Amino acid sequence: MSPAQLQTIEVAIGERAYPVWIGRGLLADHARWRARLRGRHALVISNTTVAPLYLSQLGVGLDGLRWSSFLLDDGEAHKSFANVERALQALAELGATRDACVVALGGGVVGDLAGFTAACWMRGIDFVQMPTTLLAMVDSSVGGKTGVNLPAGKNLVGAFHQPRAVAADIDTLDSLPAREYRAGLAEVVKGAAIGDPAFFAWLEQHADALLARDDAPLIEAIARKVRYKAGVVARDETERGERALLNLGHTFGHALETAGNYTALLHGEGVAIGMLLAAQLSERLGMSGAGDSERLRRLLERLGLPTAVPAGMDPQRLLELMRLDKKNTAGSLRLILWRGIGRAEIVAGVAETDVLAVLRAAVG
Ligand code: NAD
Ligand code: GLY
Repeated sequence: MSPAQLQTIEVAIGERAYPVWIGRGLLADHARWRARLRGRHALVISNTTVAPLYLSQLGVGLDGLRWSSFLLDDGEAHKSFANVERALQALAELGATRDACVVALGGGVVGDLAGFTAACWMRGIDFVQMPTTLLAMVDSSVGGKTGVNLPAGKNLVGAFHQPRAVAADIDTLDSLPAREYRAGLAEVVKGAAIGDPAFFAWLEQHADALLARDDAPLIEAIARKVRYKAGVVARDETERGERALLNLGHTFGHALETAGNYTALLHGEGVAIGMLLAAQLSERLGMSGAGDSERLRRLLERLGLPTAVPAGMDPQRLLELMRLDKKNTAGSLRLILWRGIGRAEIVAGVAETDVLAVLRAAVG
């Protein structure tokens, strides 16, 4: 691809700084990413949907190394401890040493599990992210949050472990189903909603081109979201403060995903509904005016995203699930709310009655 179309963003975390490349043809650009691999062993972690499409292309770039692949079955349910153990076993069978590298080829499920596996093997080895969903490109592959689910809730076990590089090859999005693509757009909107009102307005202008997957606006949207996230992560890698803002809509969203047994809603869809609930709650609490949540709802709907709590989900049960969120302190809800577009903030001690009222009003 022409260098003009390739975007490179650095996640500036001291000695562990790493590049995020965004563009076409990156999987085949072996020399670029191979230079980030240090040792003689590599384990590619992917899944049974993505591997048949892209593993052979990636494998050519691993020529000369001892490498193998470990494939998950497809789906959130496979982001499990049992599969981390199997992946670690695959590293053992490969004879992986401390300078080995795990390569994550897939969406957020593969990336989170692969990163956690890399964090565990010999107390931490390198990994490279090759995200193949829009959601993974703009969110999960950047920032070093890795982990797996427990029956008690999503992402309850994990580690902060930064990748050595992220190669977001938008060629891979050509095979991504439309619903998954739209779910990724929710994470793009999230970045703008949290901290970048100009980006939000840009998304309103480019919504149709983004839905049509036009290259230039797509690369621009991914880059703007990644640049925003990279800045936050560089300032607050382990979520002592500002990074928590990146979870706008997540407390609601995780509860919705869990209530739907991880099958009714995609993660990005849960985030879309969750962001709107957070905006509506902000309005109810007098933090923001009515126009902002309405603008958010309109943009999400234009992008083909859901905005209502699915019919049949019990608001009381959703509230109970929200109590499990990692951001809470004992006895009160701590949520990311906003003072309007681009002005998210952390609010502690939110009354459960207000949360319940917003949930009840939003059931579709
Ligand atoms: P996913 O990994 O399940 O991928 C979605 C679907 O698309 C899957 O069926 C997958 O097989 C398929 N797929 C992937 N790439 C494809 C391609 N190029 N062509 C065709 N099909 C393809 O889901 P996701 O939305 O990418 O990620 C969601 C996960 O990410 C959740 O587990 C969530 O918790 C996690 N997450 C993590 C972070 C983080 O900071 N670590 C942030 C956001 C989300
Ligand atoms: N997805 C939220 C974060 O990376 O912190």
